Amino acid sequence: MINLIGKSIKIFEELNSTNSFVKMNVSNLDSGSIIVARKQTEGRGRRDNKWVSEEGNLYFSVLLKTDIYRDRIFRHIVQSSVSIIKTLNHFNIQAQIKYPNDCLVEGKKISGVLIESLGSSKLDFVIIGIGININQINFNDLKDKATSIKKLIKSNVEVESVLKVFINEYNELLKRNYEEIFGEYLKHSVVINKHIIYKDEEYKIINVEQDGTIIIRNKLIEQRVAYSEISLKEFY
Ligand code: ATP
Ligand code: BTN
Repeated sequence: MINLIGKSIKIFEELNSTNSFVKMNVSNLDSGSIIVARKQTEGRGRRDNKWVSEEGNLYFSVLLKTDIYRDRIFRHIVQSSVSIIKTLNHFNIQAQIKYPNDCLVEGKKISGVLIESLGSSKLDFVIIGIGININQINFNDLKDKATSIKKLIKSNVEVESVLKVFINEYNELLKRNYEEIFGEYLKHSVVINKHIIYKDEEYKIINVEQDGTIIIRNKLIEQRVAYSEISLKEFY
């Protein structure tokens, strides 16, 4: 079944977090609905990290209610990350994917994806929260870690136009099979053969599998780790 997104789009001037709003209103929203906030007061990243959410960037959440399974959650990260890469291509920006959920340009983060869900094996809902930095120029404390479309192409871009491109790219990808989309994810991924610290030991990243399992190895051991259990805060 094809779960097209963006039939309903609601834009708010300010929300605490678009993901939190969708979670609170899940029963009143149809599958595929998109909630946008011009700014967020409590934008969130993974593991309760804060997502800086000033006006001028894109902050939105997509609600999925049908055909969703816990063991396929990583597919939503892949589908969203590849859609972001393609969206940025429209603005002449070539980005890379930092497993599992970030898009980088020149090593700086331009976008992040936060997936939240409820349910056991068959899920009640999945919320895909996406932030894309568009017109922000000053990142203060994050100046060495964050970038935006405007910083890269030196011109303002309308927030809605980026959302429109994203929706088209996402819906186009729904026509393709997951293996192909995952192939694109890996092609843009920057982590394979890099080194990370996991539970105080250094490992080399060997591979990422289609369900998001990451394979890491050192002289002593090879480990399979779920994407939800690993942070690539430092990789080199
Ligand atoms: P991980 O490997 O666990 O994903 P991470 O540091 O990338 O580690 P995330 O939860 O993915 O953590 O992202 C949140 C982090 O992103 C924040 O802690 C902050 O460092 C950075 N950040 C916050 N807001 C923005 C933003 N608007 N643009 C770019 N980076 C941001
Ligand atoms: C990350 O890199 O950790 C993910 C960041 C996700 C940020 C987006 S902005 C819209 C949505 N609402 C939130 O509170 N977070 C996501």
